[in-house]
Amino acid sequence: MHGMRLLVVAGSSRSGSLNQQLAGMAASLAVDAGAVARSLDLRALDLPVYDGDVEAARGVPAGALQLQDALRESDALLLVTPEYNGFPTPLLINAFDWLSRIQASAERPSGLSSTAGMPAALLSASPGPLGGLRSMNFLRQYLQMAFAMIVVPQQFALQRAHEAFDAHHMLKEERSVRAVGGVLAALGALATALRAAREADAG
Ligand SMILES: Cc1cc2nc3c(=O)[nH]c(=O)nc-3n(C[C@H](O)[C@H](O)[C@H](O)COP(=O)(O)O)c2cc1C
Repeated sequence: MHGMRLLVVAGSSRSGSLNQQLAGMAASLAVDAGAVARSLDLRALDLPVYDGDVEAARGVPAGALQLQDALRESDALLLVTPEYNGFPTPLLINAFDWLSRIQASAERPSGLSSTAGMPAALLSASPGPLGGLRSMNFLRQYLQMAFAMIVVPQQFALQRAHEAFDAHHMLKEERSVRAVGGVLAALGALATALRAAREADAG
Protein backbone atom coordinates (compact mmCIF):
# COMPACT_ATOMS: atom_id res chain seq x y z
CA MET A 1 0.00 0.00 0.00
CA HIS A 2 3.07 2.19 -0.06
CA GLY A 3 2.11 5.76 -0.95
CA MET A 4 -1.49 4.84 -1.76
CA ARG A 5 -3.84 7.74 -1.04
CA LEU A 6 -6.79 6.18 0.74
CA LEU A 7 -10.05 8.03 1.33
CA VAL A 8 -12.00 6.64 4.29
CA VAL A 9 -15.70 7.50 4.58
CA ALA A 10 -18.05 6.24 7.28
CA GLY A 11 -21.79 5.92 6.84
CA SER A 12 -22.45 7.17 10.36
CA SER A 13 -21.25 10.40 11.92
CA ARG A 14 -22.90 10.08 15.32
CA SER A 15 -20.72 10.43 18.38
CA GLY A 16 -19.63 6.99 19.52
CA SER A 17 -20.36 5.47 16.11
CA LEU A 18 -19.10 1.91 15.89
CA ASN A 19 -18.51 2.35 12.18
CA GLN A 20 -16.49 5.50 12.79
CA GLN A 21 -14.37 3.49 15.21
CA LEU A 22 -13.89 0.74 12.66
CA ALA A 23 -13.05 3.34 10.01
CA GLY A 24 -10.48 4.93 12.31
CA MET A 25 -8.95 1.55 13.07
CA ALA A 26 -8.78 0.69 9.36
CA ALA A 27 -7.21 4.07 8.56
CA SER A 28 -4.48 3.54 11.13
CA LEU A 29 -3.81 0.01 9.82
CA ALA A 30 -3.54 1.45 6.31
CA VAL A 31 -1.08 4.09 7.50
CA ASP A 32 0.96 1.37 9.23
CA ALA A 33 1.06 -0.42 5.86
CA GLY A 34 2.43 2.69 4.13
CA ALA A 35 -0.73 4.38 2.83
CA VAL A 36 -1.70 8.00 3.27
CA ALA A 37 -5.19 7.94 4.78
CA ARG A 38 -7.70 10.78 4.79
CA SER A 39 -11.05 10.62 6.53
CA LEU A 40 -14.05 12.58 5.37
CA ASP A 41 -16.92 13.26 7.78
CA LEU A 42 -20.09 13.37 5.68
CA ARG A 43 -22.10 15.13 8.39
CA ALA A 44 -19.66 18.04 8.29
CA LEU A 45 -20.39 18.62 4.60
CA ASP A 46 -23.15 20.75 3.10
CA LEU A 47 -25.35 17.88 1.88
CA PRO A 48 -29.10 18.44 2.32
CA VAL A 49 -31.39 15.53 1.58
CA TYR A 50 -31.53 15.25 -2.21
CA ASP A 51 -34.51 17.04 -3.72
CA GLY A 52 -34.91 18.15 -7.33
CA ASP A 53 -36.28 21.49 -6.20
CA VAL A 54 -33.21 22.11 -4.04
CA GLU A 55 -31.03 21.23 -7.01
CA ALA A 56 -33.00 23.53 -9.33
CA ALA A 57 -32.86 26.40 -6.86
CA ARG A 58 -29.24 26.24 -5.78
CA GLY A 59 -27.47 23.61 -7.85
CA VAL A 60 -25.34 20.85 -6.42
CA PRO A 61 -24.34 21.72 -2.84
CA ALA A 62 -20.75 22.44 -1.87
CA GLY A 63 -20.52 19.19 0.09
CA ALA A 64 -20.90 17.12 -3.08
CA LEU A 65 -18.08 19.06 -4.72
CA GLN A 66 -15.91 18.49 -1.64
CA LEU A 67 -16.64 14.77 -1.81
CA GLN A 68 -15.70 14.77 -5.47
CA ASP A 69 -12.47 16.67 -4.76
CA ALA A 70 -11.57 14.19 -2.03
CA LEU A 71 -12.20 11.27 -4.42
CA ARG A 72 -10.15 12.88 -7.17
CA GLU A 73 -7.27 13.36 -4.74
CA SER A 74 -7.37 9.67 -3.74
CA ASP A 75 -6.31 6.39 -5.30
CA ALA A 76 -8.83 4.22 -3.48
CA LEU A 77 -11.94 4.47 -1.33
CA LEU A 78 -12.83 2.60 1.84
CA LEU A 79 -16.49 2.81 2.91
CA VAL A 80 -17.49 1.69 6.40
CA THR A 81 -21.23 1.60 6.85
CA PRO A 82 -23.88 0.63 9.34
CA GLU A 83 -26.93 -1.29 8.23
CA TYR A 84 -30.31 0.39 8.62
CA ASN A 85 -33.01 -2.21 7.95
CA GLY A 86 -30.59 -4.14 5.80
CA PHE A 87 -29.58 -1.12 3.75
CA PRO A 88 -26.70 1.39 3.76
CA THR A 89 -27.47 4.62 5.60
CA PRO A 90 -29.22 7.67 4.11
CA LEU A 91 -26.15 9.74 5.03
CA LEU A 92 -24.00 7.69 2.68
CA ILE A 93 -26.46 7.16 -0.15
CA ASN A 94 -27.53 10.81 -0.13
CA ALA A 95 -23.91 11.95 -0.46
CA PHE A 96 -23.31 9.68 -3.45
CA ASP A 97 -26.64 10.56 -5.04
CA TRP A 98 -25.61 14.23 -4.93
CA LEU A 99 -22.18 13.31 -6.30
CA SER A 100 -23.88 11.67 -9.29
CA ARG A 101 -25.61 14.98 -10.07
CA ILE A 102 -22.37 16.91 -10.71
CA GLN A 103 -22.26 17.69 -14.42
CA ALA A 104 -19.01 18.13 -16.32
CA SER A 105 -17.97 21.77 -16.58
CA ALA A 106 -14.89 23.82 -17.38
CA GLU A 107 -13.86 23.50 -13.71
CA ARG A 108 -14.43 19.80 -13.08
CA PRO A 109 -15.40 16.47 -14.63
CA SER A 110 -18.79 14.94 -13.92
CA GLY A 111 -19.32 13.21 -10.59
CA LEU A 112 -19.71 9.84 -12.28
CA SER A 113 -16.51 10.16 -14.28
CA SER A 114 -14.63 10.82 -11.02
CA THR A 115 -15.64 7.44 -9.67
CA ALA A 116 -15.43 5.33 -12.85
CA GLY A 117 -12.75 2.67 -12.51
CA MET A 118 -11.82 3.73 -8.98
CA PRO A 119 -11.01 0.88 -6.61
CA ALA A 120 -13.11 0.59 -3.45
CA ALA A 121 -13.57 -1.72 -0.48
CA LEU A 122 -16.30 -2.18 2.10
CA LEU A 123 -16.50 -2.75 5.82
CA SER A 124 -19.51 -2.72 8.11
CA ALA A 125 -20.15 -2.86 11.83
CA SER A 126 -23.25 -3.61 13.87
CA PRO A 127 -24.07 -4.77 17.38
CA GLY A 128 -26.05 -7.54 15.71
CA PRO A 129 -24.94 -11.05 14.74
CA LEU A 130 -24.52 -10.26 11.02
CA GLY A 131 -22.39 -7.17 11.52
CA GLY A 132 -24.25 -5.17 8.88
CA LEU A 133 -23.40 -7.68 6.17
CA ARG A 134 -26.57 -7.02 4.15
CA SER A 135 -25.77 -3.33 3.72
CA MET A 136 -22.56 -4.21 1.91
CA ASN A 137 -24.41 -6.27 -0.67
CA PHE A 138 -26.51 -3.26 -1.63
CA LEU A 139 -23.60 -0.87 -1.42
CA ARG A 140 -21.44 -3.08 -3.64
CA GLN A 141 -24.14 -3.19 -6.30
CA TYR A 142 -24.81 0.57 -6.03
CA LEU A 143 -21.14 1.51 -6.38
CA GLN A 144 -20.47 -0.92 -9.20
CA MET A 145 -23.59 -0.43 -11.26
CA ALA A 146 -24.25 3.28 -10.80
CA PHE A 147 -20.73 4.60 -10.17
CA ALA A 148 -18.63 2.09 -12.16
CA MET A 149 -16.35 1.61 -9.17
CA ILE A 150 -14.34 -1.59 -8.87
CA VAL A 151 -15.16 -3.06 -5.47
CA VAL A 152 -12.79 -5.77 -4.23
CA PRO A 153 -14.51 -9.07 -3.36
CA GLN A 154 -12.93 -9.09 0.10
CA GLN A 155 -15.11 -7.43 2.75
CA PHE A 156 -15.58 -7.67 6.48
CA ALA A 157 -18.66 -7.33 8.70
CA LEU A 158 -17.81 -6.70 12.35
CA GLN A 159 -20.49 -8.46 14.38
CA ARG A 160 -21.23 -7.62 18.03
CA ALA A 161 -19.35 -4.42 17.34
CA HIS A 162 -20.42 -2.83 20.63
CA GLU A 163 -18.15 -5.33 22.40
CA ALA A 164 -15.37 -5.35 19.82
CA PHE A 165 -13.31 -2.28 20.76
CA ASP A 166 -11.05 -1.60 23.74
CA ALA A 167 -10.73 1.74 25.54
CA HIS A 168 -8.30 2.96 22.85
CA HIS A 169 -10.82 2.23 20.05
CA MET A 170 -8.69 -0.67 18.86
CA LEU A 171 -10.23 -4.00 17.89
CA LYS A 172 -9.79 -6.48 20.71
CA GLU A 173 -9.73 -9.63 18.59
CA GLU A 174 -6.68 -10.33 16.48
CA ARG A 175 -8.73 -12.18 13.86
CA SER A 176 -10.81 -9.02 13.30
CA VAL A 177 -7.64 -6.98 12.83
CA ARG A 178 -6.41 -9.57 10.35
CA ALA A 179 -9.72 -9.47 8.47
CA VAL A 180 -9.58 -5.67 8.12
CA GLY A 181 -5.93 -5.96 7.08
CA GLY A 182 -6.91 -8.49 4.42
CA VAL A 183 -9.50 -6.15 2.93
CA LEU A 184 -6.97 -3.30 2.90
CA ALA A 185 -4.32 -5.51 1.30
CA ALA A 186 -6.74 -6.50 -1.46
CA LEU A 187 -7.64 -2.86 -2.04
CA GLY A 188 -3.96 -1.88 -2.15
CA ALA A 189 -3.15 -4.66 -4.61
CA LEU A 190 -6.03 -3.62 -6.90
CA ALA A 191 -5.05 0.06 -6.77
CA THR A 192 -1.46 -0.85 -7.63
CA ALA A 193 -2.51 -3.09 -10.53
CA LEU A 194 -4.85 -0.43 -11.93
CA ARG A 195 -2.16 2.23 -11.70
CA ALA A 196 0.33 -0.06 -13.50
CA ALA A 197 -2.24 -0.73 -16.24
CA ARG A 198 -2.86 3.02 -16.67
CA GLU A 199 0.85 3.72 -16.86
CA ALA A 200 1.33 0.94 -19.42
CA ASP A 201 -1.51 2.40 -21.51
CA ALA A 202 -0.03 5.87 -21.31
CA GLY A 203 3.50 4.67 -21.90
C1 LIG B 1 -33.11 2.90 11.58
C2 LIG B 1 -32.20 1.84 12.07
C3 LIG B 1 -32.24 0.59 11.50
C4 LIG B 1 -31.35 -0.41 11.91
N1 LIG B 1 -31.37 -1.61 11.27
C5 LIG B 1 -30.41 -2.54 11.55
C6 LIG B 1 -30.28 -3.71 10.77
O1 LIG B 1 -31.00 -3.95 9.82
N2 LIG B 1 -29.30 -4.59 11.08
C7 LIG B 1 -28.43 -4.35 12.13
O2 LIG B 1 -27.54 -5.17 12.35
N3 LIG B 1 -28.53 -3.24 12.89
C8 LIG B 1 -29.48 -2.32 12.61
N4 LIG B 1 -29.57 -1.16 13.35
C9 LIG B 1 -28.69 -0.98 14.51
C10 LIG B 1 -27.36 -0.39 14.06
O3 LIG B 1 -26.54 -1.43 13.59
C11 LIG B 1 -26.69 0.30 15.27
O4 LIG B 1 -27.49 1.40 15.69
C12 LIG B 1 -25.29 0.75 14.95
O5 LIG B 1 -24.64 1.10 16.15
C13 LIG B 1 -25.27 1.92 13.97
O6 LIG B 1 -23.97 2.19 13.54
P1 LIG B 1 -23.07 3.31 14.21
O7 LIG B 1 -22.74 2.84 15.62
O8 LIG B 1 -21.84 3.37 13.36
O9 LIG B 1 -23.82 4.60 14.24
C14 LIG B 1 -30.44 -0.16 12.96
C15 LIG B 1 -30.42 1.12 13.55
C16 LIG B 1 -31.25 2.11 13.10
C17 LIG B 1 -31.17 3.47 13.73
